[in-house]
Amino acid sequence: MVMDVMSAAERIEAAGGHVIHMEVGQPAAPAPKTALAAARAALDGGRIDYTSALGIPSLRERIARHYRDTYGCSVDASRIVVTTGSSGAFILAFLAMFEPGDRVAVTVPGYPPYRHILTALGCEPVLIETTADTRHALTGEALLEAHRKKPLQGVLVGSPANPTGTMMSREALTSLIAAAQAAGIRFISDEIYHGLDYAFPAATAAELSGHALVINSFSKYFCMTGWRVGWMVVPEPLVRPIERLQQNLAISVPTLSQIAAEAAFDGKEEMEAIKRGYLENRRVLIEGLPAAGLTKFLPADGAFYLYADVSDFTSDSLAFAKQMLEEAHVAATPGADFDPYHGKAFIRFSYARSADDMREAVKRIARWLA
Ligand SMILES: Cc1ncc(COP(=O)(O)O)c(C=O)c1O
Repeated sequence: MVMDVMSAAERIEAAGGHVIHMEVGQPAAPAPKTALAAARAALDGGRIDYTSALGIPSLRERIARHYRDTYGCSVDASRIVVTTGSSGAFILAFLAMFEPGDRVAVTVPGYPPYRHILTALGCEPVLIETTADTRHALTGEALLEAHRKKPLQGVLVGSPANPTGTMMSREALTSLIAAAQAAGIRFISDEIYHGLDYAFPAATAAELSGHALVINSFSKYFCMTGWRVGWMVVPEPLVRPIERLQQNLAISVPTLSQIAAEAAFDGKEEMEAIKRGYLENRRVLIEGLPAAGLTKFLPADGAFYLYADVSDFTSDSLAFAKQMLEEAHVAATPGADFDPYHGKAFIRFSYARSADDMREAVKRIARWLA
């Protein structure tokens, strides 16, 4: 559905209109300068060879150090696997952890590829609805209730989350992991939006359990979407199976991207400045949207998303998004892509662009709704 919105935006732009893009979930900034410089130097060096299936050893060590520096938690580099973005990590993780027919819980609203990749691999995604009273966090009780109805083999959660922008507190994550482990349900934590946490510091599942599988990426905090590089922290017994899978499926992750990714860690100052920009964008929206007429939205805890309830205006958020685009030239994503049950009541705004864009969007929405 978002593709419809995007093609409509292209038509408006081709006709000379100026669209504010709040539909795309990707940073406007490029990769850190340190990453670009390392990639240029590697290209000048000539050869770009395969790497080992688990990734360049120095990058794996650097990621392990990131866990020490950021969370004060010790993760052995032998458990780090470099992947083709977090998207590549899902495939490896699901193949290593599950068999066809296995049931894996995912939350609704949620990132659609979780359920699509599971389905493509012959697993059954089990959709569990989250609600505003738990800040859209999946609870241990809800997980165990689904498990009692029909046993689950796995569960996947993301925090900060897409599309809701909400985060799980450390307590919520701890108790969910404990519930999953007690019931023998494998736990996967999508931490792709870590680093973009505003309400409180995000906790990593890697510090809470050696049995959890953690997925992360250079796409969001490090602004490296197109480089296609991410990583996993995997439970020790899964290292070897995942190494074999990666070796057979892809041989290795693109070498140039791995070299750039390692250097990206030296560009944290630049990335923190970009994060401060998101924080300002978030403030503009949190203060501006209610004044413009959009008064109901979920707590914008992290990532760069704000999920707004537009049910006071429409029973079809796709039509709402199309009309807002055509008449106000503001592009946003209809919720139906993320939530088959209540998505028609919501739209997702991405605030990964400039604060000027956000201020202009708020003005246009206010005029349009008025
Ligand atoms: C929640 C979530 N997980 C994973 C991804 C995939 O990102 P990538 O494959 O670029 O790491 C995205 C992309 O938007 C996302 O929103």
